[in-house]
Amino acid sequence: MNVLILMGSPRLQGNTAEICKPLIDEMEKQGAQVRYVTLADKNILPCRGCYACQQVTGRYGCPQKDDMETIVHHIRWADRIVLATPIYAWYCAAPMKNMLDRHYGLNKYYGTGQGSLWAGKQIALLCTHGYEADYATLPFALGMERLCEHSKLVYRGLYSVRDEDDRASFQTQEATEGARAFARRLLQ
Ligand SMILES: Cc1cc2nc3c(=O)[nH]c(=O)nc-3n(C[C@H](O)[C@H](O)[C@H](O)COP(=O)(O)O)c2cc1C
Repeated sequence: MNVLILMGSPRLQGNTAEICKPLIDEMEKQGAQVRYVTLADKNILPCRGCYACQQVTGRYGCPQKDDMETIVHHIRWADRIVLATPIYAWYCAAPMKNMLDRHYGLNKYYGTGQGSLWAGKQIALLCTHGYEADYATLPFALGMERLCEHSKLVYRGLYSVRDEDDRASFQTQEATEGARAFARRLLQ
């Protein structure tokens, strides 16, 4: 099974990166092929809303030439996609938001383009946050559930850990075992 982790924190060695480690380790132990891609160090321009991607069939078709082409290549390779992000202002952090807005060319709903480049893929969330879990993550989780519905993806749920003591919060046995259990569930 091919698993893509898209890590959207501006802190490449921060809390979210930390909780990705046991998840990835467990997936690899279970035999999955895992690709870990950080977004904050990539050039992902904001969607311009030009709809050019909607006139194109069989390929992504965004006229902006940046690292999103490579991200799309990874997305098309993956059976499972894990969106790993800190909660910023009750949603995902900006590098992930730019990437999510650029999903448009993966669906062809609003022009002469036909088909989908990612229907049926399974999406899960891995979040870190300062507030209590439900209060912090519900808006983003709801947004992603809706995106999955809209894009004919399968939403596989969320695992999250609260930041109580910076990176140490993500190294506890409870946090890491939870990430491992989530990894095993996602591979089913
Ligand atoms: C700019 C900023 C905005 C944040 N907004 C929220 C928020 O809306 N809700 C929340 O629960 N935590 C919020 N936090 C806390 C982070 O989600 C938390 O510290 C997270 O673990 C940081 O992960 P990172 O080290 O991967 O960046 C915010 C932190 C920052 C720096």
